[in-house]
Amino acid sequence: MKTRGAVIRSAPGRFEVVEMDLDAPRRGEITVKMVASGLCHSDDHVAKGDHAVGVYPICGGHEGAGVVVDVGPETTGFAEGDHVIFSFVAGCGKCRWCAKGLQNLCDRGAAIMTGSRPEDPTSFRLSLDGAPVAQTCGLSTFSEYTTVSTDSAIKVDKDLPLETLCLLGCGVGTGWGAAVNSAQVYPGQTVIVMGIGGIGINAVQGAAHAGAAHILAVDPVAFKRDSALKFGATQAFSTMEEATDVARSLTNGQGADAAIVTVGVTTGDHIAQAFSAIRKAGVCVVTGLGKMTDVGIPISPMELTLYQKRLQGSLFGASAPSADIPWLVDLYTSGKLELDALVTTTYTLDEVAQGFDDMHAGKNLRGVIRF
Ligand SMILES: NC(=O)c1ccc[n+]([C@@H]2O[C@H](COP(=O)([O-])OP(=O)(O)OC[C@H]3O[C@@H](n4cnc5c(N)ncnc54)[C@H](O)[C@@H]3O)[C@@H](O)[C@H]2O)c1
Ligand SMILES: [Zn+2]
Ligand SMILES: [Zn+2]
Repeated sequence: MKTRGAVIRSAPGRFEVVEMDLDAPRRGEITVKMVASGLCHSDDHVAKGDHAVGVYPICGGHEGAGVVVDVGPETTGFAEGDHVIFSFVAGCGKCRWCAKGLQNLCDRGAAIMTGSRPEDPTSFRLSLDGAPVAQTCGLSTFSEYTTVSTDSAIKVDKDLPLETLCLLGCGVGTGWGAAVNSAQVYPGQTVIVMGIGGIGINAVQGAAHAGAAHILAVDPVAFKRDSALKFGATQAFSTMEEATDVARSLTNGQGADAAIVTVGVTTGDHIAQAFSAIRKAGVCVVTGLGKMTDVGIPISPMELTLYQKRLQGSLFGASAPSADIPWLVDLYTSGKLELDALVTTTYTLDEVAQGFDDMHAGKNLRGVIRF
């Protein structure tokens, strides 16, 4: 079938909407009519060339939700009309990582960068003028229709709004889990969240749910700081220096229990700032991504060893999407997790590039495409 979708032809580049060919679902696959897709900074990393991918053009988007319109042969568990949220990491359920409850690290995650089928690096479902088009994370949620592995899809009740649930496909779980799973925030703690975008605002929500007494949000943009205060931050600052001073003043000079780095283009210097803001045996969680060729974090090895500090990477909030996305849906339906107010601006598919310009201008917590 034909589908319109936003692609990057070469990087650095800008998203443009083209008409592509989409293959029918094969065994273990479904075709989905997209309802909504969030605009995550990781797609912009691909556009800017911070992250090189295996094949160009690549059709963007990895934070989406839609309705199943076709089911591959001998494919169980899904039917036409089912509502699904995608997980940006497929979960095979069988590899060592899935078996140990680390589904976010599933070996199928390799498709994040290859844009192919998770299980076969030479197999693609989208094409343009006969040449393969990579699917971001095996998904491509910036397309009206897409064919994905059932390992990437989580079914949800049909009466829930996919327009906001799409955010559970990346930003919400990534940020919330950074605080709850990776930092393991517990009641009374002091937490710094550095960078209040679609990820950081959910780290604020997660830290608040986990009972942090002090949540210090840091962002150079005033709108982001004001938003953080509405989502549970207790104070907001434009620099890490200010937040670090306040964290120390709140903890008898010790420093924050946790600092979570969710800066849009994360550098080693950002991580070093967060690392120096935490107390002895505290944790610095790194969720933000920068240029894939960057090397080095200027921290003191002595401080790492003698203060027994922890530097903790975090992919998809260290979650197990098959279990944790339904968990977050429950938190949303019970009124405990805010999703609707995360959507600052909605766009049409043709406005994707504008959406990313607005992200850079600091206008959105999250921009969302509505199909
Ligand atoms: N690890 C993962 O699983 C995962 C998943 C999704 C996204 N990401 C990454 O997380 C990062 C954040 O994504 P996003 O969609 O929230 O981006 P975003 O652009 O919406 O938000 C980033 C925020 O950082 C702020 N910022 C910039 N410089 C800063 C500084 N020096 N100090 C404090 N704040 C600063 C910006 O003003 C902006 O509000 C990106 O690098 C993205 O690629 C990682
Ligand atoms: Zn993302
Ligand atoms: Zn697996």
